[in-house]
Amino acid sequence: MATDRKPASTTDLHEQEQPNDIGGQSQTPQISRRFFLSQLGAAGLAATAPPVLAAATPGAAVAEQFSETAAKAGTVPVTLKVNGKSHSLRLDPRTTLLDCLRENMDLPGTKKGCDHGQCGACTVHVNGQRVNSCLSFAVMHSGDEITTIEGIGQPGHLHPMQAAFVEHDGYQCGYCTSGQIMSAVAVLSEHVGPSDDDVKQAMYGNICRCGAYPNIVAAVQAVRRKA
Ligand code: FES
Ligand code: FES
Repeated sequence: MATDRKPASTTDLHEQEQPNDIGGQSQTPQISRRFFLSQLGAAGLAATAPPVLAAATPGAAVAEQFSETAAKAGTVPVTLKVNGKSHSLRLDPRTTLLDCLRENMDLPGTKKGCDHGQCGACTVHVNGQRVNSCLSFAVMHSGDEITTIEGIGQPGHLHPMQAAFVEHDGYQCGYCTSGQIMSAVAVLSEHVGPSDDDVKQAMYGNICRCGAYPNIVAAVQAVRRKA
């Protein structure tokens, strides 16, 4: 008596296929494990095809354009006033004031030392106050008056503090010097006592790896005496 057996599982399907094929009796197509795995492998290869294949398709150009637009979409407009000049920019909101000055505004006089607020090489003035520009986001300074080393003096028209650093050999490699000078200029308008120790205390956030400290203090004191 014929039984109306239905497969109970995929194992049953596979098991059914072989005797029926051998006997040539099968009327319904069956899915073999080998066929299933070969299709799966083909799909996997397609998914991991190298980008060069994707680039050959017209859709790649559209995708590239889309990602550029998406990148621009992550920026925000900001207007910064630096050394008396206004600059309208679009910036990633995570851009530090230091990177913005150096990378976006072509003002490399402000140096990146530690990038962590520990060395003072990046010191600039914001509304007359000295600030570590590596610790501040550029977008926070819309409307502020920002001054960099380029803004206080230029060759031929040096600020008295720049001239004093030259006169007293207040530097060796010079990497810390713009930060030192920006701090020293700020000290002129801060309530700092008259002694060398007072100057050292006021400038403690500016590190000089070359150890030019005695000459730096001499330069600062020379300007303070004339002020
Ligand atoms: S680079 Fe900003 S404090 Fe060192
Ligand atoms: S002069 Fe070289 S780090 Fe100060």
